[in-house]
Amino acid sequence: MKIVNNIKDLKSCIKLWKDSNCSIGLVPTMGYLHEGHKSLIDRACRENDKVVVSVFVNPTQFGANEDLDKYPRDIKRDSKLCEESGASLIFAPSPDEMYSKNFSTYINVENLTDGLCGSRRPGHFRGVCTVVSKLFNLITPNKAYFGEKDAQQLAVIKHMVEDLNFDVTIVGCPIIREYNGLAKSSRNTYLSKEEKKAALILNCSLGKAKKLLKSGLKDSNDLKSVITNSLRDEPLAKIDYVEIVDSISLKPVKKIENNVLIAIAVFIGKTRLIDNFTWNI
Ligand code: PAF
Repeated sequence: MKIVNNIKDLKSCIKLWKDSNCSIGLVPTMGYLHEGHKSLIDRACRENDKVVVSVFVNPTQFGANEDLDKYPRDIKRDSKLCEESGASLIFAPSPDEMYSKNFSTYINVENLTDGLCGSRRPGHFRGVCTVVSKLFNLITPNKAYFGEKDAQQLAVIKHMVEDLNFDVTIVGCPIIREYNGLAKSSRNTYLSKEEKKAALILNCSLGKAKKLLKSGLKDSNDLKSVITNSLRDEPLAKIDYVEIVDSISLKPVKKIENNVLIAIAVFIGKTRLIDNFTWNI
């Protein structure tokens, strides 16, 4: 497996593969890979001749007071995981390689980014869409793989691909959880032992919501109250949002009559965690 840090070498490798008619899968990541990423890489390896994993902590998607500097990094560990999974190449550029001094072109997907994480993290999806577009242009993958844990990101990227006619199929992959239900995330590494225990409240509150939906509950305010009250039971948890939105438009719904996304963002101590599930009618 190759590790490439610059665009020139990346492009020559991609050209060789394209000349030999190889299909290419892309798994975009910010590194510090875990089993969630591994499930994306494994799927990409099953479905493509060659697989590129990008490892890039993208500065343009972090707000001024967010964790860009302290975001965990370990390229050695990431390389081992990629190699063992059968990836063909890691693309791990520096910020300067991706963003020239005069960089001034950004991609903005409107409407879908108004709520949920988009309203709590202004500029976040602009940074995500910009870097993902650059990766699509550089790597020209046939398929690109994203986790359903970042449900809004997945919806936004699918929309961008349609709007801008990118010739790539976006594949959404299920959330991978620890044995106790905590959704895998690179940010889990920030949690102390006590906070890790407290973080179980996210999946637990979603579990309560699922039960009520199964029993026929249709009122989204009632459902939100159940989730909110459950989260409030945990002293270390501070709610950022609890939302029930249409799974396509991501607009809040009052009555649960079509497919909905139940999405939450919660601070456990200083760490912001997200989780969700889709309820299909
Ligand atoms: O989901 C992530 O890790 C990032 O947002 C992505 C898609 C790699 C873009 O930087």
